[in-house]
Amino acid sequence: MTKQDAKQMTKIAEKKGKLLVLLPGMGAVSTTFIAGVEAVRSNNAKPIGSLSQMQTIRIGKRSENKNPLIKDLLPLTPLDNLVFSGWDIFNENVFDAAVRSRVLDKSDLAPCEEFLKEIRPMPAVFDRNYVRRLNGSHIKEGKTKYELAEQLRSDILTAITSTGAERAVMVWCGSTEIHLNPAPCHMDIDSFERGMKEDDPAISPSQLYAYAALSEGIPYANGAPNLSADVPALEQLAIEKKVPVTGKDFKTGQTLMKTALAPAFKSRMLGVTGWFSTNILGNRDGEVLDDPDSFKAKEVTKSGVLDTILEPESYPDLYKDLYHKVRINYYPPRGDQKEGWDNIDIFGWLNYPMQIKVDFQCRDSILAAPIVLDLALFLDLAQRAGKYGTQEWLSFYFKSPHVNVGHLPEHDLFIQHLRLKNTLRVFAGEQPLTHLPEDLDI
Ligand SMILES: NC(=O)c1ccc[n+]([C@@H]2O[C@H](COP(=O)([O-])OP(=O)(O)OC[C@H]3O[C@@H](n4cnc5c(N)ncnc54)[C@H](O)[C@@H]3O)[C@@H](O)[C@H]2O)c1
Repeated sequence: MTKQDAKQMTKIAEKKGKLLVLLPGMGAVSTTFIAGVEAVRSNNAKPIGSLSQMQTIRIGKRSENKNPLIKDLLPLTPLDNLVFSGWDIFNENVFDAAVRSRVLDKSDLAPCEEFLKEIRPMPAVFDRNYVRRLNGSHIKEGKTKYELAEQLRSDILTAITSTGAERAVMVWCGSTEIHLNPAPCHMDIDSFERGMKEDDPAISPSQLYAYAALSEGIPYANGAPNLSADVPALEQLAIEKKVPVTGKDFKTGQTLMKTALAPAFKSRMLGVTGWFSTNILGNRDGEVLDDPDSFKAKEVTKSGVLDTILEPESYPDLYKDLYHKVRINYYPPRGDQKEGWDNIDIFGWLNYPMQIKVDFQCRDSILAAPIVLDLALFLDLAQRAGKYGTQEWLSFYFKSPHVNVGHLPEHDLFIQHLRLKNTLRVFAGEQPLTHLPEDLDI
């Protein structure tokens, strides 16, 4: 591609007015995200962990020394123009939910207490068959799933009007639903709509939110591991309505480490015989994951990453015997402060074994909140740039990237990062980095 081609590539509609971030599930992640944005725009904090706010992006040759911030290169919605709304099965305002979630200290919440108290969740579409460990009372009633989805659509329009927003994005931050496989009702949009009218058990609440968002032309991201917009019916709807869609399962703690370390071993042709990962966490998410069927959804997204990165079929001498085990244990005393241990058995020259131990004492929602921010801003940007359907370039943020039919997900953090930034370069009408001689300044 010539520079001229790239320059002509993307026209981005002007950023005007407010962007509403719609959050199904206003628990630890959502409240930490909203409180954090408010702290940043009140100059009480820096947006640490957010690429959209803090990362620079090289344009042109290295010697040209053009490294603007991503937010200065592209017309992202400014934080001051973000407004928030959402749904939850508990009728708690965002301040009370944030205090209960025990992620942020009261001293950090105090300056935005009034602001947070004004955001109250709308009644949720919820069914205990999909999240068995929770029981709330702030729940919609409807004769069929279709009727419930219609109520969500009407909520979306009401929230846009009441917040004075011009446009919206939705990021699912609700609890992990049970593991479901795609069913016949997921195969096309007519079957999906018929399934909703017939209350097909294969259609989960998160899919009703996704359907409602896409039907209203609102981009949708799934932060949880369960099946949601990643079925042909909703992919087709996203294309028909010209809406970007992405997911799934925010890549935060242990999997972030895994997808950084595994590419390092592979690039040096070091073998791996075993990778044992165990976690303790005590927040509500941990409680939900204590149900084996919700855990199954998480296990699937967490387990897939190593095979795709290490490619045992291409490197049988190095990875064919790899034993990969992932455990998650609910341990209430830890709250949101998860601890993830990895024991990695590797081998090198003449098969000599070595071990690596990782002990990541992380804070789940502190790592997830900036991802919600970046996804909201990048999905909005993508839509204004005329992109729609599955946004593979956002794989960087997910444990189990939602990709187009026939594509393999890319898990390598560094390839994902390059792809994300190259897509942003192209949006800006700049050349993507290929690391061919013209990029290298030789
Ligand atoms: N690092 C992370 O925190 C991280 C990483 C990856 C994925 N996730 C996923 O993000 C999601 C949110 O995590 P969290 O720590 O905030 O959990 P949380 O339990 O604190 O919050 C989830 C909220 O969703 C609500 N909810 C459940 N079903 C709902 C429905 N149908 N409609 C509306 N609200 C509903 C619950 O009442 C709860 O308040 C979880 O699915 C989790 O697995 C989190």
